[in-house]
Amino acid sequence: MDNQTKKKASFTGTIGFVLAAAGSAVGLGNIWRFPYLAAQNGGGLFILIYILLALTCGFVLLITDIAIGRKTGKSALEAFGAASSKFKFLGALSTIVPTLILAYYAVIGGWILKYMVDYFTGQGAQTATDGYFGAFLASPVSPIVYTLIFLAATALIVYKGVEKGIEKFSKIIMPGLILLIIGIAVFSVTRSYTDPVTGVTRTGFEGMYQYFVPNFDGMTVSHFFKIVMDAMCQLFYSLSVAMGIMITYGSYVKKETSLTKSVIQIEAFDSGVAILAGLMIIPAAFVFTGSVDAGAGPGLIFVALPKIFEAMGVVGHIAGAVFFVMVVFAALTSCISLMETVVAGCMTLFKKSRKQVSWIAFVAFAAMGVVVCFGYNLITFRMPLPPSFAVDATTGTILDILDFFCNYIMLPIISLGTCIMIGWVKKPQWIISEIEEGGKHFKAKAMYSIIIRYVAPVIVIIMLFKATGKF
Ligand code: PHE
Repeated sequence: MDNQTKKKASFTGTIGFVLAAAGSAVGLGNIWRFPYLAAQNGGGLFILIYILLALTCGFVLLITDIAIGRKTGKSALEAFGAASSKFKFLGALSTIVPTLILAYYAVIGGWILKYMVDYFTGQGAQTATDGYFGAFLASPVSPIVYTLIFLAATALIVYKGVEKGIEKFSKIIMPGLILLIIGIAVFSVTRSYTDPVTGVTRTGFEGMYQYFVPNFDGMTVSHFFKIVMDAMCQLFYSLSVAMGIMITYGSYVKKETSLTKSVIQIEAFDSGVAILAGLMIIPAAFVFTGSVDAGAGPGLIFVALPKIFEAMGVVGHIAGAVFFVMVVFAALTSCISLMETVVAGCMTLFKKSRKQVSWIAFVAFAAMGVVVCFGYNLITFRMPLPPSFAVDATTGTILDILDFFCNYIMLPIISLGTCIMIGWVKKPQWIISEIEEGGKHFKAKAMYSIIIRYVAPVIVIIMLFKATGKF
């Protein structure tokens, strides 16, 4: 079978790989969840804990995924089986989960596209009116049209391949995304507003202060523990680990590339964007609403932020347009990584070419996307979810259910399986030797072994308990 495979797809070099992986990592999680968690959880304290976790557990899980991919040279679907036949099922799970995530992530991508178009066509003011978002979701056609456009863009880039599609696109988009986000953050921090009723002036700098300065008020041991767990869940999701994605991308990495350096760079990109997203949202929220808490999830992007842009006046419409372009980029590169993981798996499973599979994937995801869109109008089914996971209510739509199932149930299960396979069955040296490939020196060997064998498994088990909502 293998001798039929043509030249193996690969990234041309380290930069291409780092930017593509960062493109996957930087997504909605960075924008609509990190700032909220930081604002809720003691500001700078949360950021500090997040960075510490990124340098330890995040580093270990990310490098493990990438090294599994590079060592086996296979996409997630086959990589686990190639490593150990007992863990073949993890390959199937790591392909099914991105399939389910893409089915709803592309729908959200469609919503963002719709708002971007609104801002560019001078209808930004309307998006700030009460009930606008709800009415859009309730309409049976519009969300589907935008989802299909978003999916078509995703499929087109995957269709073009790793080097000419994913790498090329990431190399253009990711630096652009950074520039946009820095621009919006500077704009947000330099705002000020005088309340016409109270005469009080609020500045973006005050908002920034609240975001960055650690707040220990009323801190208890259990609250501290909650912050650590929130940071951990956010980190795993944000780094796109345990989804098969980084394994698949890892299989395209050349042996000369330093995995340690690449992982540090990907993490710096991801955490940097998350922190900047907070700088973009929190000072603006503080200046125009008087509170650093603008909410999270769709409520933040599609309801609270348009109101904040509106409060800024005309300049807010420009800021809104730039903001939605930036979020479209962030969501698109994440969707590409999801589709690539599924397409790469299906190419070997069905022995079909990339081009054929990309077409089929587009059609299949379009069908799934339509069902998810109908979850807000024609399909009235709702499922109860633990309160902390249903951001706006206690029950979830099809989209909420998929999100909960993938990220809070499946992600910890796949992580746990990976830790057991590497930590206890294959042994950490199996990964360490891949990291040290080509005479590279891996300084953090001891830390790696301890985390993959003991720390990470315990944490993901706690994450699973957390998903019950009773914790
Ligand atoms: N890492 C992305 C984010 O932060 C989310 C994501 C998870 C994307 C899994 C793809 C796969 O939003």
